Formats: sequence, C-alpha cells, structure tokens
Amino acid sequence: MSGNTFGTLFRITTWGESHGYGVGVVIDGCPAGLPLDEADIQKELDRRRPGQSNITTPRKEEDKAEILSGVFSGKTTGAPISIMIKNKDVDSSKYEELQGTPRPGHADLTYEIKYGFRDFRGGGRSSARETIGRVAAGAVAKKILARFGVEVLGHVVELGGIRARPVSIEEIRENTEKNPIRCADPEAAGEMQAVVHMAKSEGDSVGGIVEILAPGVPAGVGEPVFDKLSAEFAKGLMSIGAVKGVEIGAGFRSALMRGSQMNDPITLKESTYGRKISMLTNNAGGILGGISNGEIIVCRIAVKPTPSISKEQCTVDMSNMSEKTIKIKGRHDPTIPPRIVPVAEAMVALVLVDQMMRGGFINTSILGDSYS
Ligand SMILES: Cc1cc2nc3c(=O)[nH]c(=O)nc-3n(C[C@H](O)[C@H](O)[C@H](O)COP(=O)(O)O)c2cc1C
Repeated sequence: MSGNTFGTLFRITTWGESHGYGVGVVIDGCPAGLPLDEADIQKELDRRRPGQSNITTPRKEEDKAEILSGVFSGKTTGAPISIMIKNKDVDSSKYEELQGTPRPGHADLTYEIKYGFRDFRGGGRSSARETIGRVAAGAVAKKILARFGVEVLGHVVELGGIRARPVSIEEIRENTEKNPIRCADPEAAGEMQAVVHMAKSEGDSVGGIVEILAPGVPAGVGEPVFDKLSAEFAKGLMSIGAVKGVEIGAGFRSALMRGSQMNDPITLKESTYGRKISMLTNNAGGILGGISNGEIIVCRIAVKPTPSISKEQCTVDMSNMSEKTIKIKGRHDPTIPPRIVPVAEAMVALVLVDQMMRGGFINTSILGDSYS
C-alpha cells in the first residue's frame, strides 16, 4: 500500500490501523528550534477524540500522544519527529460478521478487491483513526504557523440541510468550540443537533459542509503550475475519508457569476507599514493563479453522511457470492463534520507550512530565534 506520505519539504507519513497496537505519524523536515512537547499535540488530539458527546461514536479513547524522537530539551532538533498514540478501547467483535461482507459506502469492498486480504477490524487503515497522525502533525504545523502570524480555523457551516448564518472570524474564534457541532452560529447549532438526533434514532446519518479559514497567510505562497496552493489544499482535503468536494472561495457558485461579480476589486489600504494592496471582496478565497494574494484563505469541504448505519441495507457475502442485507452494529459517528474540523484544519496547516518552506518564507533548517 503506497501513498501514506504527504508533503514535499515538510513531509508526514501516517501509520497504524483502527484495532492494531496504535496509530501515529513521522514528520520529516520540521526545522530545529521549535519548542514542542506532548501538551502541544494533546490539545489538538483532544479536539479530535471520539466519545466526547452523544453526536460522536461512543468509542472511548484517551488518545495520549507520546513523542518518540526528534525533540530534545523541549525543542525540535531537525531530526524526524515520531509520534505514537496507542489504541486502548478496541472491540472487534462487531466486525467479525463484516468479514467478506462489505459495508455499503465504506472502503471495505475496494480494499477487498485491491488487496484480497484486509484488516477488517474497525475498518483497519481506512478507519478515521488514521487521521490522528494528521492531527498530531497538524499541531506541529500550527505551532510553526503561529510564529508567522498565520492561524487556521475550521467550523461547520451546514449540517443535515441546516445552514448557519454568515459569521465573523471573531464569532468563529469565540463560539465554535462551545457546542458539540462546532458551529459558530449557536442557534443553527441547536437545530443541527436536533437533526442529528433524529437521523440517529432512525438508524441513519447526516452529512454537511465545513469551512476552513487561514488568516495571516502572506502574499506569494504557492507554486504556480502543478503545485498551486489551491491544488495542494484540494489534494490534502480530498485525502480525508468522507470528503466528497472541495471549494476555494466562491467555488461552485463562481460558475453562476459574471466576471464583474466574481473579480475581487483591487484597492489600496492604509496599514502600519504604509499603503498595502488588498481586495474589496474575497471570491478568490485568497488565491490567484495558485499563489496567495494576502487575503484570508477560504476552503470549504462537502462531507458525506457516515456510511456505517444501523438501517437495513443491501450487500453481498463475498465468501459464497450471495446477496444479503445487513444492519451495521459497532460504534459509529452519526455525523462526521464536527469531528472532521480538526482534521481539515491539520491538512490546511500542513499544506501551508510545506508551501511556505518551498517559497522561502520559513527556513527549512532552523527557526529564527533558536539561539536567542
Ligand atoms: C473524523 C472522521 C470520522 C469518521 N467516522 C466514521 C464512522 O464512525 N463510521 C464510518 O462508517 N465512517 C466514518 N468515517 C468515514 C470513513 O472513514 C470513510 O467514509 C471511508 O473511509 C470511505 O471513504 P470515502 O467515504 O472517502 O469513500 C469517518 C471519517 C472521518 C474523517
């Protein structure tokens, strides 16, 4: 199985399966001199952790991060950083009956066809537990970005057909982590929660849309041909399970606009450093020609409803090639968008650090004040 590595200069490799010994990540290319400890990583893992509310899987995992290498005296050394998270609450019993019986909408069928043999316990490598490594590496990337004044913020903007009202960045910072939906509009969050409970009680699930914003990205980040900043975001975000679409800025709405509506007018704004070029609107989502233009980066992802549902569905028994029906047991998220927020933030942060290194915005060997 190839393709477990992401990034060019700031490169991550995730490893592990849902019901194996543990999961983790190796980060290659982190500059030396970044103060880093397990608490920095734990903070982000705690946001991703399951079992925190009744709208996530009841699997209870403490997801404790252990840094195995690459950090000495509280600072990164420039060597590979290996982070491990042991699996604790493993219950494979509900998966025995899924051996040879693919769950509709999950990766079981295609893994079975491609590899002929798979770790079916908890979805193995296709499980959302794989995303723990991404979130751990994303915590490191976010810490680097913070030094350059770049922030990455995700929030749920639509769930089960309920749309949040437009919110300011301050509201996102203030409100998102205050409700289990991770929606910055508290009123909509209440309605979304009700829709999730309704679907859950019917043995079903719902999907939604998550927006990820990155304020503070300087103009000039991104390699303009195959490795456009937008293309890297699309790849990073589409590589998360259950993500079925990515938009940058106005995204699919841009197809309906006229040029005069879509084009962001360019203007001059007074700033502490003199006159600064800026845009009056941000339909471009902060990227033109694959390069950041200094405005806020805006990405949106469409997240499908959780495939493992307890409603009766048609499938096949591959052992004797007969048709059958299944009702999936096991522990599953009735909706994925609230849990995907920290994962999507991590992917955006990883792309930004990698591209900022490639563009010379971040030194690849040492972070600025390491000798201070
Ligand atoms: C944070 C997160 C949580 C998820 N939780 C579940 C879950 O509880 N049950 C499930 O069947 N799928 C869950 N998924 C989705 C599956 O991993 C995904 O649908 C599957 O790997 C197939 O990939 P695809 O949907 O991209 O085709 C989750 C995904 C993410 C990112």
